[in-house]
Amino acid sequence: LRAEALQELQGVDGPQQLNDLRVKYLGKKGALTEILRGMGGLSAEERPVIGQVGNDVRAAIEAVIETKQAAFQQAETENRLRAETIDVTLPGNKLGAGAVHPLNKVAQEIEDAFIGMGYSIAEGPEVETDFFNFEALNLPKNHPARDMQDSFYVTDEILMRTHTSPVQVRTMKAMNGKPVKVICPGKVYRRDDDDATHSFQFNQIEGLVIGPNIRMSDLKGTLLQFVQLMFGKQAQIRLRPSFFPFTEPSAEVDVTCVQCGGHGCRMCKHTGWLEILGCGMVHPRVLEMGGYDPEEVSGFAFGMGVERIALLKYGIDDIRHFYTNDLRFLSQFVRM
Ligand code: PHE
Repeated sequence: LRAEALQELQGVDGPQQLNDLRVKYLGKKGALTEILRGMGGLSAEERPVIGQVGNDVRAAIEAVIETKQAAFQQAETENRLRAETIDVTLPGNKLGAGAVHPLNKVAQEIEDAFIGMGYSIAEGPEVETDFFNFEALNLPKNHPARDMQDSFYVTDEILMRTHTSPVQVRTMKAMNGKPVKVICPGKVYRRDDDDATHSFQFNQIEGLVIGPNIRMSDLKGTLLQFVQLMFGKQAQIRLRPSFFPFTEPSAEVDVTCVQCGGHGCRMCKHTGWLEILGCGMVHPRVLEMGGYDPEEVSGFAFGMGVERIALLKYGIDDIRHFYTNDLRFLSQFVRM
């Protein structure tokens, strides 16, 4: 039996077969067990002799099985290590890294320009009360100038803010009569039909400065400095009289066309100028409602659309490119 078992074990070629042989020789119904079970019929002298032989055979078979098993395990480990080998010298797969969205990029540039001039950033809620969005800005209920900014109402008294000017009102109230120098970036909402130049949601950055003796010339100097940081040293501005209920006097600001440098082209409709923002001296009534004495302080305010600045800066013809996130469009700004 021993010779037969060892012979068979020599030829075994896998762990499954090894296990089968273990059962065949050493299992409960195995050949060796069978023999040992038959020992009851032996004489007292024969029994220990046969028992000893049986144990020797078992030990011999077990030893071979163990050796074989260890060999199989080692072979398997080696195979796995070989299969999992990684060639660290192979070039890796290129990961497509994202980039800052052009709108955020332009917003950051605008913010940086004003932070460099000593402004702080103020933020406020996109869902506003009628009071902060309109009334405190000298736009009483039923005032016809409310038509300038068609709004999305949540209730009679609550709406999606139509500009970030309400943040300026909140800032005035929070400052308690102290000087103010802030810009207010954020999303705003208007009931416009979307087209190449309009969107029901867009981004604004407005500014507010309040203090003793703030003059229109301060406003003009500030805007010229901003425009030159944004569009280059050669950029000039001009102010055209305009109307906003919250500023008096009010003006619309044009910058020399970034495309033709003021000589006239399609982008500026051959005028040499591009309109970029609205501004003015804070209306005395707005100062009063914000907790300031118009006899003691004055202020200027301005507001611009980030999309519009980005369109002009990069010569883009449709605002919707900013929102559809087509990678062919976006990837052009990766290295700009
Ligand atoms: N709030 C105005 C708008 O959204 C912009 C503006 C701000 C104009 C400050 C003048 C002064 O149209």
